[in-house]
Amino acid sequence: MTWLITGGAGYIGAHVVRALRAAGEETLVYDDLSTGVADRVPSDVELVVGSTLDRALLDRTLAGRSVTGVVHLAAKKQVGESVERPLHYYRENVEGLRVLLDAVTEAGVRAFVFSSSAAVYGMPDEAVLTDGLVTEDTPCAPMSPYGETKLAGEWLLRATGRATGLATASLRYFNVAGAASPELADTGVFNLVPMVFERLTAGDAPRIFGADYPTPDGTCVRDYIHVADLAEAHVVTAQRLAGAAPGTDLTLNVGRGVGVSVREMIDTISRETGLGTAPEIQHRRPGDPARVVASADRIAVELGWSAKRDVPEMVTSAWAGRLRR
Ligand SMILES: NC(=O)c1ccc[n+]([C@@H]2O[C@H](COP(=O)([O-])OP(=O)(O)OC[C@H]3O[C@@H](n4cnc5c(N)ncnc54)[C@H](O)[C@@H]3O)[C@@H](O)[C@H]2O)c1
Repeated sequence: MTWLITGGAGYIGAHVVRALRAAGEETLVYDDLSTGVADRVPSDVELVVGSTLDRALLDRTLAGRSVTGVVHLAAKKQVGESVERPLHYYRENVEGLRVLLDAVTEAGVRAFVFSSSAAVYGMPDEAVLTDGLVTEDTPCAPMSPYGETKLAGEWLLRATGRATGLATASLRYFNVAGAASPELADTGVFNLVPMVFERLTAGDAPRIFGADYPTPDGTCVRDYIHVADLAEAHVVTAQRLAGAAPGTDLTLNVGRGVGVSVREMIDTISRETGLGTAPEIQHRRPGDPARVVASADRIAVELGWSAKRDVPEMVTSAWAGRLRR
């Protein structure tokens, strides 16, 4: 089976390409290189440089290549930027998906895996959680245009699956960190781990935004997942969809089901890098939920997948990538 990987030159996409190939699948990358890096695509994998908004290029790419499945990672992903540029985010993430779905369903693609996000849940109320965990049935209430585009993407995908028989899966990633090898590390500085590296290497104290949350150490708690585990979750999802009945529709959290506080993460980073500086406590940032931790039960039951790598592995592998720069 040949998989078209949109966003395959990005941080997560590059890992997904490698994991699918390691599982014996054929891949083809489609990426506009707006935030991606061509060198992340293995030299023996074809890279088509273009936007998911470019219907003519999509049609030319799909013609004659017998693509039977798509993993769609291409998107803009910065929450803050999405607040400033909502129309850009809706165009890239929602219209880009609509154009892609139109092209791939017409070309006879049977399976479609979509990168969704825990951002669809927004700030879940304690009262609606199950044992303090966010399940796939927790009501979605995104708090940013970015999160809205991911939820709208899920709806668009599900409706298309119902109408055309496309087998679909929306994977709601929690907080992604780490790298399978140093050259594949995240080059952005928008997530906690790279942000702390940035401060420490500049000789500045890492910042904690709010130490008065109702959590055990007062700092926000999140669910971190190693990008190599996340990539493997794509492989099992893709393989399930490849043999699934038409119209199959999965929505799955991809997390570890383990809460890690900002303070614990900073302590681990200080320990693993040897760059220990006491964190600086600042005011809370608006819109940061106290605790967002996945229930990872459904993906374990449906696909037999669970994460294998721990937080120190995420930190040391990300640090090896930072040192390489
Ligand atoms: N990194 C995270 O923590 C995280 C968490 C939840 C969900 N996600 C989702 O995972 C996906 C991948 O994220 P990432 O962290 O690898 O980001 P990234 O920016 O490294 O990768 C996105 C890739 O998509 C490409 N791209 C963007 N818009 C495009 C378009 N219109 N047409 C073609 N290519 C386009 C970029 O060039 C880039 O290579 C995104 O959909 C993101 O929303 C990421």
